[in-house]
Amino acid sequence: TTKAVILVGGPSRGTRFRPLSMELPKPLFPVAGHPIIEHCFRAIASVPEIKEVFIVGYYEESVFQPFINTVSTSFPQLTVKYLREYQALGTAGGLYHFRDVILKGKPDRFFVLNADVCSSFPLNDMLKLFEDKDAEAVMLGTRVASEAANNFGCIVSDTHTKRVLHYVEKPEGQISNLINCGIYLFATECIFPAIRSAIKRRSERPRLLSYPSSENLESSYYPGQDDDDEDKENTVVRLEQDVLSDIADSRQFFVLETKDFWRQIKTAGSAVPANALYLTKAFQLGSEELAKPSANILPPVYIHPSAKVDPTAKIGPNVSIGARSIIGAGARVKETIVLEDSEIKHDACVMYSIVGWHSKIGAWARVEGTPTPITSHSTSIVKNGVKVQSITILGKECGVGDEVRVQNCVCLPNKELKRASLPLSTF
Ligand code: GDD
Ligand code: GTP
Repeated sequence: TTKAVILVGGPSRGTRFRPLSMELPKPLFPVAGHPIIEHCFRAIASVPEIKEVFIVGYYEESVFQPFINTVSTSFPQLTVKYLREYQALGTAGGLYHFRDVILKGKPDRFFVLNADVCSSFPLNDMLKLFEDKDAEAVMLGTRVASEAANNFGCIVSDTHTKRVLHYVEKPEGQISNLINCGIYLFATECIFPAIRSAIKRRSERPRLLSYPSSENLESSYYPGQDDDDEDKENTVVRLEQDVLSDIADSRQFFVLETKDFWRQIKTAGSAVPANALYLTKAFQLGSEELAKPSANILPPVYIHPSAKVDPTAKIGPNVSIGARSIIGAGARVKETIVLEDSEIKHDACVMYSIVGWHSKIGAWARVEGTPTPITSHSTSIVKNGVKVQSITILGKECGVGDEVRVQNCVCLPNKELKRASLPLSTF
């Protein structure tokens, strides 16, 4: 049998997703009408042999319970459990800590998915490669522009056999533009011993004397605290830095290169391209839940059944409109996520933006971001020589006055924008 683990991290992570992660954990943020993590479940549910899924993180127990209830109803064949780390244990540390639960029922292999990616998750293709190659580990890879590659784990592979020859996490130089998508399939008998040796290597490593660098100068005044820090360090085991390159050296490790879409969801702005990618996919699959295309609905568009959109408003492409939102007459909305209970008044124009929960945009206002090239894997752009956020983000309960223009801005919750707000302003 096969299981699946989704790594969600915890409240100390996802800081680049602010201000939106101030309101709810990033994995639960809606793109294309569904929480980010639900898109992982849809893919998992397409693999018939997976019956059990673990969400592993260090958020409080209660955080994922409502989601687990919903997803268990949508996918009754799946048993879903949340496993809480008592502190951040790292991407491999969490797996190792819960190895008994994962190994229960003796699964031969299990998938590991980073929750913060948007992908078509070709899990069945990964299984096939795993079987064809009699592999011990398979990871999903994708090609990115060379200058973007060192923000990711880089893979050197044998193009013919697909074998991973060499793996380096976020290298300083350029070694390859084939990168790690954060989606893996591991043989249980390979991964746990590999993590165990990583932990062993670490504890055998001679204890480094701590020199008072500027960073630990303060803590060196308090004897004992260094030890604590070191213990904490020792409990963190990272799949990427501590385990994968080792597997590449010694095991049957293969990479499936996907030509399908893939993006990371790190910054709040990256929810906009993720929304576009998932909507496009849903449209291609003929999804019933999308709005019917018409003169004023340019597909793909998702409109929650409880939202009220004036028929003269022009919506799309790549727009999601959340529950109970109201879009007035003559408004123009494109490449945007409108969250629950928001209002966009008549003749306002909103593009490349995220409109936070309970926000209000006045009549004839313009709220705009800028598109980033799909290949850049970044959500910042250079404007007048300065790096700015490409997507405009209004936090929860923001207001934009009538006729006010807002461009490339991040607006913190509960702010009223009464005058034009142009790049480089953060409120
Ligand atoms: N449970 C748990 N515990 N999850 C964690 C922890 C932890 O201590 N630390 C990180 N995660 C989760 C995050 O929520 C995320 O889903 C995933 O693990 C990876 O997060 P990072 O550790 O921040 O790595 P990264 O996103 O910068 O890079 C990873 O993903 C890239 C693809 O998106 C690496 O695997 C790269 O090689 C890869 O290219
Ligand atoms: P195409 O998309 O090429 O068909 O042209 P378009 O005129 O529809 O422009 P598009 O939808 O790509 O971009 C949105 C444009 O809508 C902006 O550039 C604005 O000029 C315009 N716009 C601005 N304010 C409003 C408004 O209140 N209502 C409507 N309907 N449009 C507006």
